[in-house]
Amino acid sequence: MKNNVSTFAKMKAKGEKISMLTAYDYSTAKIMDNCVNGILVGDSLGNVMLGYEDTLSVTMEDMITFGSAVSRACKNAMVVVDMPFMSYEVSVEQAVMNAGRLMKEARANAVKLEGGVEMCDRIKAITNAGIPVMAHIGMTPQSVNAFGGFKVQGKSIDGARKMVEDALAVEKAGAFAVVIECAPTELCEYITEKLTIPTIGIGAGDGTDGQILVYQDMLGLFSDYVPKFVKRYELLGDKMVDAFKQYDKEVKNGSFPDKDHSFAIDKEIIDELRK
Ligand code: KIV
Ligand code: NA
Repeated sequence: MKNNVSTFAKMKAKGEKISMLTAYDYSTAKIMDNCVNGILVGDSLGNVMLGYEDTLSVTMEDMITFGSAVSRACKNAMVVVDMPFMSYEVSVEQAVMNAGRLMKEARANAVKLEGGVEMCDRIKAITNAGIPVMAHIGMTPQSVNAFGGFKVQGKSIDGARKMVEDALAVEKAGAFAVVIECAPTELCEYITEKLTIPTIGIGAGDGTDGQILVYQDMLGLFSDYVPKFVKRYELLGDKMVDAFKQYDKEVKNGSFPDKDHSFAIDKEIIDELRK
């Protein structure tokens, strides 16, 4: 059966760690589906799929195009789709409508949105519409302009208190899980102890209930910048360069395509054609 909000809740209750990765396309999601508990179609697609400098330009249409491709591939992993910048900030009504579109058109199993205390009315209303919400606190990339850069959050006593407040508030508002991004290990551990819902960390240390990484980061497919929290499990970018160069060489020296990769025709037909 496909993983869902109950799977995540049970895993936290049993102390089992939850693994998540991002995916944005059918082929990758199909490979990933049986490997991790959940897949996030993150608005990080703005960076890694579309080449933007941040996530602000990502649209609902982008999320639906990539989200539906991932949903079509997944039979095991729970699929969470990000709400893009300005699809939920303006009003509670707008938030519920756009969350609904991600369920109907992208066939998401849940949506994710950024923000703590200030987004709780949205989280509550979307949850009341029967749509599970994953919250996202700490360094929330859609607010990069307000933060003045991609910086670790919660290092001061005020910052740490604010993050604890945000975490408790999103749980109370009905979120089924919360992503904590770029925050000190011990703070995230403390928040994880305080919450009954699972915490999913990225740059949040080893004390959270789960982990998430952007798949291009962990496979070495994206090198524009590599944050400190990224562990590269593979250097597939280097392997791709080798394969692309080998192809180029074989095309030029005529060793590709060979007979095994070509179609034959009866000799008499060609002879007749050439007459
Ligand atoms: O967009 C994204 O990939 C995310 C994760 C990094 C949590 O929000
Ligand atoms: Na995101």
